[in-house]
Amino acid sequence: MIHVPATTTHTIDRRIYGQFAEHLGRSITEGIWVGRDSDIPNKNGIRTDVVGALREIKVPVVRWPGGCFADEYHWLKGVGDERQPMVNTHWGGVVEPNEFGTHEYFELLNQLDAEAYINGNVGSGTVEEVSDWIEYMTLDSTAPMAELRKHHGREQPWKVEFFGVGNESWGCGGNMLPLQYAYLYRQYQTYVRQFGETPISKIACGANADDFTWTDVVMANAAEHMDGLSLHYYTLPTKEWHGKGSATEFDDYAWHETIRQTRRMEELVTQHGRIMDKYDPAKRVAMIVDEWGTWYDVEPGTNPGFLYQQNTMRDALVAALNLNIFHRHGDRIRMANIAQMVNVLQAMLLTDGAAMVTTPTYHVFDLYSDHQDALFVPADGESLGMAGSLGSEADFTVSTKDGAYTISAANWSLERERKVSLELPGAVTEVLRAQMVVGDKPNSHNTFTEPDAVGLVEIETAITGNRVEFTIPAHSVGTVRVGVEE
Ligand code: AHR
Repeated sequence: MIHVPATTTHTIDRRIYGQFAEHLGRSITEGIWVGRDSDIPNKNGIRTDVVGALREIKVPVVRWPGGCFADEYHWLKGVGDERQPMVNTHWGGVVEPNEFGTHEYFELLNQLDAEAYINGNVGSGTVEEVSDWIEYMTLDSTAPMAELRKHHGREQPWKVEFFGVGNESWGCGGNMLPLQYAYLYRQYQTYVRQFGETPISKIACGANADDFTWTDVVMANAAEHMDGLSLHYYTLPTKEWHGKGSATEFDDYAWHETIRQTRRMEELVTQHGRIMDKYDPAKRVAMIVDEWGTWYDVEPGTNPGFLYQQNTMRDALVAALNLNIFHRHGDRIRMANIAQMVNVLQAMLLTDGAAMVTTPTYHVFDLYSDHQDALFVPADGESLGMAGSLGSEADFTVSTKDGAYTISAANWSLERERKVSLELPGAVTEVLRAQMVVGDKPNSHNTFTEPDAVGLVEIETAITGNRVEFTIPAHSVGTVRVGVEE
C-alpha cells in the first residue's frame, strides 16, 4: 500500500515536459517545416498535423536551433527574403537551406503556445552576433536591429524566456576546458540584455553525464551570472557509442540494460545537485536537463547523420522513468528537453511524406500531462517495493493539482503485472482519468502501415473510500487521476 500524505514539497515545473528541435536530419525540414507551397497541409509553412498532435501534449517550451548545430549557426543567414544556405557539418554534411529561421521558430511557438529557449553560438560565433540577435528579437525601438526585424515583417518584439550560452562547449561546441568556458560564459552573457519586460533566463552550458568537475568549475566561477546550468545525459543500451543496437530488435538483456542506464539519471542529478548546492544552497540556479532520451543505431537504410530511430515500449518506459526522476528532483530541475521532438532520437512523432505517427513516448507525455505545474507529493511506497530506484521493476510518481491527485506508474518487468494500491489523504469523489500505454510486446511500436499498434487503453480501477487500486501489465505505463474530498 502506498501511503499518499497531504503534504507536498515543490511544484513540478511544466517546463520539465520541454522539447528540443535541432536542424538535424528530418527534424525541422520535413518534420515541422514543409514550406507554404507544400501539398502537405500547413499553416505558414508549418505542418498542421504535427502542431495538432503536439498541442495535445501541451508542449511548454521548445529549445532551438541546436544542439551541436547551434555553435555553427549564424542567425542572420536565416532571416529576410534572401536566405543563405550553409553546410550542416555535424549532421550528415547536407546543405541547410536556412528557410526555417528566427521568424519561423516564433511562428511555431505561437502555433504551439510554447515558450522560447534559444541556444546561442559561442563555439564559432561572436559576442556581437549574440548581442545583435537579442536586440533583433526583443528590442522595441528604432535601433538598427529592431528596424531590421520590422523590415522583415515583424513589428513587435518577441519574448525570449530562455537563452543558452553555447552548447556542449566541452565537445562539439568548441572543445573547451571548464575554466575557459566559465570565462567566456561571463563575457557572452553580459550582452544577453533584457530590453523588454520579460526577463531572459540565462542558461550556461553544463556537464556531460558524470563530468562533475565541469559543474564544479563553472558554478565556482560563474554561478552568480546564470539562471540555469544544463546537463546532458543520453540512455544508450550499451556503454559503447559504436554498435548501440537496434531500436526495435533487442533482447531481454538490452531491455534491462537500457532501464539500468536510464535510472543512472537519478544518481547524476543527485551528484550534480550536491555540487550546485555548495555554491547555491538556495537553489536559485535551475538544473536544466536540456538533452535526454534514448540513442540507438539509426533505422537501416537511413543516413547515419540523421539520427532517425524507431520508438517502442522500451522508450515509453525510459520516458516515464526519467520524468519520475525529474519530478522527485523538481526543487532543482526546472526544465528538461527530450531529444528530440520529431524524427530524431527519442521522438514524439515520426513523419514520412504526408504521413505522421505518434510514438509510445508521445503517449507517455500525454499520460503525464496533468503533472505539469502540479505539486509533488512525496508518497511512500516502500512497503510495496515501489519507491523510486529500489530495483523492484516498478516506479511511480504522485502529484496534486486542482483538487485531484495524479498517480503514474511504470512497470518495466517483462513478465509480471503490477498491482498499485494507494491510500489518499481524502475520500475519492471521481475518477477523472485511468489510462495506460501498452503494446503486445516489449518492442511494440507504431509504423506507417500499422499506426495504432501502441496507444492508450483504459485501466479498471477499484475505489473504496480513500483507497485506489489498479493493475498495469508487464512493460507498461499507466496514469490514474482522481478527485479527492478536501
Ligand atoms: O541531440 C543530438 C546531439 O546530441 C546534439 O546536437 C548535441 O548537443 C548532443 O551531442
